[in-house]
Amino acid sequence: METPFVEGITLDRFLMDTLRDHPGASGTFVNLMQSIALAGKMISARVNRAGLSGLLGGTGETNVQGEFVQKLDVYANETFKKALEHGGHTCMVVSEEEDEPILTPERFHSGKYVVTVDPLDGSSNIDVNATIGTIFGVFRRKTAEGTKATLEDVIRPGQDLVAAGYVIYGSGTILILATEHGVHGFSLDPMVGEFFLSHPHIQTPPTSTTYSLNEAYYHQFPPGTRAYVDRLREPKRGYGTRYIGTLIADFHRNLLKGGIFLYPATAKNPQGKLRLLYEAFPTAYIVERAGGAATNGKQRILDLVPKTLHDRTPLVIGGKAEVEEATALMSAEP
Ligand code: AHG
Ligand code: MN
Ligand code: MN
Repeated sequence: METPFVEGITLDRFLMDTLRDHPGASGTFVNLMQSIALAGKMISARVNRAGLSGLLGGTGETNVQGEFVQKLDVYANETFKKALEHGGHTCMVVSEEEDEPILTPERFHSGKYVVTVDPLDGSSNIDVNATIGTIFGVFRRKTAEGTKATLEDVIRPGQDLVAAGYVIYGSGTILILATEHGVHGFSLDPMVGEFFLSHPHIQTPPTSTTYSLNEAYYHQFPPGTRAYVDRLREPKRGYGTRYIGTLIADFHRNLLKGGIFLYPATAKNPQGKLRLLYEAFPTAYIVERAGGAATNGKQRILDLVPKTLHDRTPLVIGGKAEVEEATALMSAEP
């Protein structure tokens, strides 16, 4: 039987080999990725036994987004923060679950990187055993190393990201990492506790016959968005839908197999629902490096600059040709 693993290449080994091609690069980025991978493994282990360890269900609280907080949201957020705090490479973390930026202790002011995180994407799917994930983005800080990081380090265009990725907890656990070296996937072997390279050089198909959209909101969409959805529904186009309600699960499927994901503006949420820093920027960075595209229906996502930490944005993301077709219709909207 053919093995899905590219023989023996662990995430660590891959990172070392990649950096070896870049003399002068320090090991700090490798350390950062090791910390993120560790958090991913810890969250994966908890997700797998959530029902046994009393981690299903809500905490009874709402977060800064006004959404109900699940116990696993809290666990994932704390785990991610701790993993980064102990590494010494990160000077600031901003999280979907936190009102304010988390500044790592003074001894880590020398950290080079700022990390954005949606610790648990797809919270509403936790209790039904459906796929969930952790999404992250990495900026290199703008302020001087050795000083306290400021909002200037994170309120900036998505274009400034130096890496982004996610860990997806599905039928298996996979870590996807996008950098200037492309997009690569690593599957967790839980028996060994290591991520192994399993999806080298991911490129997303430019067109497809799949769209991912919460179609129940159709009557709330602006006219250009409805016009695009009408086109997708034309029988001659041959499209089908896939939508689980976990952005990163829908995105991952489309990244590998082709497809366009849309969470447009609705009457209820004129800015859409998804968060620019925690969801849209990282997925846009990944898709572009895999040959795809992402817009808010009018502008490229990575050209946007958030006004606040928790800004939302409409998101249209997937194969290049499909995103262009959608954007042509949606950009005519007032
Ligand atoms: P989160 O669990 O981090 O709050 O994100 C949930 C998001 C996203 O993952 C998904 O695409 C979207 O909510 C689904 O929203 P609808 O239920 O409105 O379709
Ligand atoms: Mn999310
Ligand atoms: Mn979340």
